[in-house]
Amino acid sequence: MTDSASFAGRRILLGVSGSIALYKVADWLRSLVREDAAVTVVMTEAATRFVSPLTFAALSGRPVHTSMFAAQGAETIPHINLAKGADIVLLAPATAQTVARLAHGLADDLLATVVLAARVPVVICPAMNSNMFLHPATTANLDILAGYGYRIVAPDCGAMACGDCGPGRLPEWTTVRDELLTALSPGDLAGRKVLVTAGPTREFADPVRFLSNPSTGRMGYALARAARIRGAEVTLISGPVDLEPPAGVTTIAVVSALDMHREVMARAGGQDIIIKNAAVSDFRFAAVAERKMKKREISPDCRLLANPDILAELGEMRRLGGLTAVLVGFAAESGMLLAEGERKLQAKNLDLLAVNDILADDAGFAADTNRVTLLGRDGSQEHLPLLSKEETAHRILGRAAALLR
Ligand code: C5P
Repeated sequence: MTDSASFAGRRILLGVSGSIALYKVADWLRSLVREDAAVTVVMTEAATRFVSPLTFAALSGRPVHTSMFAAQGAETIPHINLAKGADIVLLAPATAQTVARLAHGLADDLLATVVLAARVPVVICPAMNSNMFLHPATTANLDILAGYGYRIVAPDCGAMACGDCGPGRLPEWTTVRDELLTALSPGDLAGRKVLVTAGPTREFADPVRFLSNPSTGRMGYALARAARIRGAEVTLISGPVDLEPPAGVTTIAVVSALDMHREVMARAGGQDIIIKNAAVSDFRFAAVAERKMKKREISPDCRLLANPDILAELGEMRRLGGLTAVLVGFAAESGMLLAEGERKLQAKNLDLLAVNDILADDAGFAADTNRVTLLGRDGSQEHLPLLSKEETAHRILGRAAALLR
């Protein structure tokens, strides 16, 4: 993964305050450590009543800090050193009390003092009873914190430990993880518009029969999320997949290649980068029945029509001066990978083409990982190692962002 999108080696200060939700944060800490982050935990006194600092010390592999007046090394000033030693501060869970203290600049314990002294991004996950969360005092305090430039992650709605139901639950880790990565990202796509297509298309012959392919959309969705994390305004045009639309991304659901063609063409102008990751069906049925056909009615040699090649059309529009976007294509190949890739790069007038070998088990359709070769218009060939699709997405976006400059 590029430096801009990874927790590896990042110094994260995790501030934990006294809410029952903090047991969930122990799991977040594990996830961060698994991703090679260096996490230092600061707990409020109330937090230590719920879970022993020992738990967080064991999970982080580092001492947990709870007091302004630490015994170890009398010459050190814990709050200043902790603040200076962090790349980002994550406060989770942040109780109504912690939110109120921070909003008013109180420096009455180690956690509050560290946040005051920190000059790095601060991400806050409020978690409390929904009446407390909705109280105008808490709302006003969170507004003040947002005004300081802190990132507030909205709590989830649902049943709470106290039995009430409403907003105040800690959000899912994936949401918070994206927020942290966004805060750490250099924002090299800020102010840019990125269009991504993802998933397969379905070409129906009748209401129950269609022509399609095994694309799951994972690579395209990873690209959309990664572009969002890097600051872009992202539109995702997706064929039928079993994935949640990424947060903060305008997602448009389509079914057929003709649907996708229409939606892409309506939005192509004004985009800075267009990434055509979708596995578009090359053909559709010439005749489409409105009602389910009987077996005997189906001809074994039914006629197919060629679908428009959306990417080739975009490439042609650009050649004629009607489009300025950086164009990125994907090629799923099962032989002669690079030669086929070079041919497509030229034929479709692309800037970048990501080629992958669909016969490999750990890459291509339905895998969580991918191993692609990036072919550039300048003749360059970059062989990426086996990476998660998220990491692959960031590598591709890093290259596309460089082409914009
Ligand atoms: O020629 P091939 O289908 O292998 O090219 C793959 C690339 O072209 C992908 O980026 C895919 O999204 C795009 N494509 C398209 N419209 C089609 C077929 C492929 O945009 N009808």
